[in-house]
Order: sequence, then C-alpha cells, then structure tokens
Amino acid sequence: MPSYLSREELKKKRDQYLVPSVKHLYSEPPHFVRGEKQFLYDEKGKQYLDMFAGIVTVSVGHCHPKVLERTIEQVKTLQHTSTSFMTQPMVELAEKLAEITPGNLSKSFITNSGTEANEAAIKLARLATGRHEVIALEHSYHGESHLTSTLTANHHYRPNIMPASGIVFAANAYCYRCPFQKHPTSCNLECAKDVERVIQTQTSGQPAVMIAEPIQGVGGAITPPDGYFQEVKKILEKYGVLFIADEVQTGFGRTGKHMFGISNWDVQPDFITMAKGLGNGFPIGAFITTPEIADKNQKVQINTFGGNPVSAATASAVIDVIREEKIMENARVVGDYLMEGLKDLQKKYPIMADVRGKGLMVGVELAQADKTPMTTEAAKVVEFAKDNGVILGKGGLWASTIRIKPPMIVTKGDIDTTLQTLQKALESVSKVAVS
Ligand SMILES: Cc1ncc(COP(=O)(O)O)c(C=O)c1O
Repeated sequence: MPSYLSREELKKKRDQYLVPSVKHLYSEPPHFVRGEKQFLYDEKGKQYLDMFAGIVTVSVGHCHPKVLERTIEQVKTLQHTSTSFMTQPMVELAEKLAEITPGNLSKSFITNSGTEANEAAIKLARLATGRHEVIALEHSYHGESHLTSTLTANHHYRPNIMPASGIVFAANAYCYRCPFQKHPTSCNLECAKDVERVIQTQTSGQPAVMIAEPIQGVGGAITPPDGYFQEVKKILEKYGVLFIADEVQTGFGRTGKHMFGISNWDVQPDFITMAKGLGNGFPIGAFITTPEIADKNQKVQINTFGGNPVSAATASAVIDVIREEKIMENARVVGDYLMEGLKDLQKKYPIMADVRGKGLMVGVELAQADKTPMTTEAAKVVEFAKDNGVILGKGGLWASTIRIKPPMIVTKGDIDTTLQTLQKALESVSKVAVS
C-alpha cells in the first residue's frame, strides 16, 4: 500500500498551499485515498458509504471496472490531439449523446466541465437568436466562471465583482417556501407565470434564452411541481426564447424514470447541458442542441481538452454501463425505497421539514416549525454521519438541506444503513434543538 500523509498533516499542507475559498464539506475532513463501488476509504483503511458521489458525479460507482478498462486502454493508445483534429472517441460519444437525449437534439459540443458547457450553450443561444438577455431561476447554481456565477442565484457563490450583463431571475418553484405564499394544490403555478412577469418587466421583451435545472441541485434538491416546466415553456415560446435544461446533476438516469430530468415534465428543451455523472469522475462536460441552432454558428470553436480521446472514451463507457446494467432502473427502485424511508422518519422527526426529490436526487430540509432554517443542525448531521461512516451532502441557500445523491448502484441495504445513521444523527440534534 502506498504511504499517505495523515489526515492532520494533509490538512495543514492544504491550508498552506490552497486558496481559502476551496472549502471542504466538513470541519474535520477525512483524507480519502481509495474508492470502490459505493464506498470510499481513508488513509487508515476506514470504509465510508458514499451517499453523495463526489457531488453527484460518480454515477456508476467508484472505479467501475468496465469504465476503467476503456479509460486505461485509451490512455495507453492516444491521449490528446485537441478538437482541431479528428478522433473517433469524440464522435462516438456525440453519437451516443444524440441517441439518449430527447427530441431532435443531435449536435454536441464537448467541454471539460459543466461551467464550460453552460458558457458555450449560452454563447450559442445568443448567436442563434441575435439576442442577449438570459433568464435564470432564484436559488440556481450554474458554475464558477464570470457568466455562470452571475447566473447563480445564491450569494455564497457570487463574487462581489461586476456581474455579467443581461441576467435576470425569476422566482423558483420552491413549494415548501413558496415565494408567493401559496399552496401547491391551489397555486395555479404562480411561480411558472413569474417568468412572463420577469420578461415583461426586467428585459427588453426579447431575451435570448432561459436556463434552469430541472431539480435545483446546489439549491437543495428543489423539485418543481407537476406542470411547472410545461407552463414555463409555453411562456418562452410566446416570446421566442430558447430553453437550456442544465442537467449537470439531473442527467443520466439519476431522477429514475428518464435519462434526463426535464423529461419528467415532458418538455423538449433546445439545449441540454451536462457534466458530472457523464464522466463518473473524469473531467468532461457537453451541450447538445438541434442542428438548426448549431448551424447558426459557423465560426471556429476550439476547446483544447474538450472531447479528448480519454475523457470521451470514458464517457462512452459510462453511458454503456448505465444502459447495460440498468442503472436508471436501480435509481428509481432504490430511490423510491429511500423516499419511503425518509417519509417514515419524517413522522418521528418534525425538523425534517421537507423531504423532496426524484429517484436518487433527494433533499431533506431541516427547519423549525416556523420554517427557520436549521443550518447548524444540518452541519452537525452530516458531520455525525461522516464520523459514523456515511457521507451525506449539504446544500441550499441556508446550507440547511441534507443532500442524498449517491452513486446510482447503491442497494436497499445501503439505504437502510443511511436511514439508520440519519436517525441517530437526527436524534442527537433534535434533543439539543428541543432543549
Ligand atoms: C446544475 C449545475 N450546473 C453547472 C455546474 C458546474 O459544473 P462544473 O463544476 O463541472 O463546472 C454544477 C456544479 O455543481 C451544477 O450543479
């Protein structure tokens, strides 16, 4: 076994050599040295059940052998040429993306990350429409660049510098904290209608494009009600606005019933952007659009590493594994089991104020009876779970939502372990919260 720095030594060096904005999820972060299937191992060999998948990225399990085989074969054969030269893995990947995405989305641009995919999609949407303004949703997360961090409606990620121009925000479909104080059974989808209000009052009336996550990921698994995106799409069509579904988290079967999350609302987007789960941990992103839109940009577009043979071959192998090993079906069955277990637990622990999501994209928002977010308690829950061998995520505007988004190969047994650990964690924080 290779020798590793102790957790403490590594933390000291990390603080010395990395910028402070690279923050870890925990106050006491473990030092992970190995991953296999749905498990991670620290430098002392302790096993952790990974229920967060490296921020919703390890879609088919850590170091999946069939994926690794393709990666290693490609690394040994040809690593790089750049997009200026023709290679087979990039074209094969683009063909697979056309097969698995809905409607007539068939032309891809391959990048290294979700940020780049969103950047490139918005650039093309602006070129294709000859318009500039972009609509996004409150509580969104779309990336780290100047443009995409301006599209991110969460102050924790928005730098205090001149924002990119032409960005406006509509209310999000956050039923637990409805921006219009309505109830889902009688709201008449007021949040969807807000898109029209924003177009009329905050834009020229001719925005280029709207970008939205089908389920907001970093925002805390905020899941719009049935009918929401259909209503939004009607409004966008009325004003000639294109629609980008940012599927960086919701893609590749994670929501259980469809390869891409937006299909849960039976809406056809003009672009899908993707990353994370596509590479199972390998850096890759992409957008896919229609030939009509793609043809509107005939200039040269280079991405030095985008679609490099190793990432492209790896991503193709990930898609093959998702299809061959019925990973999406597992996300549905195990995700339903998780949801049932959480709803049961919710009856005992009222601080589980809202349990939401689809498939294996699930959030549990902790709040007091008056909806005050329980940020400290959420931090304690994830720290407790980690100390007890289960990795959970955390997010939302107030960092008060526990995020459960594991590799999509987890079993019902793993869900039982997660629920038991969560129960113990809630037990310990509920006592403190009540007293
Ligand atoms: C919905 C969404 N879009 C875009 C991004 C940015 O992707 P990346 O970190 O690969 O640049 C993320 C990252 O968390 C995301 O969750």
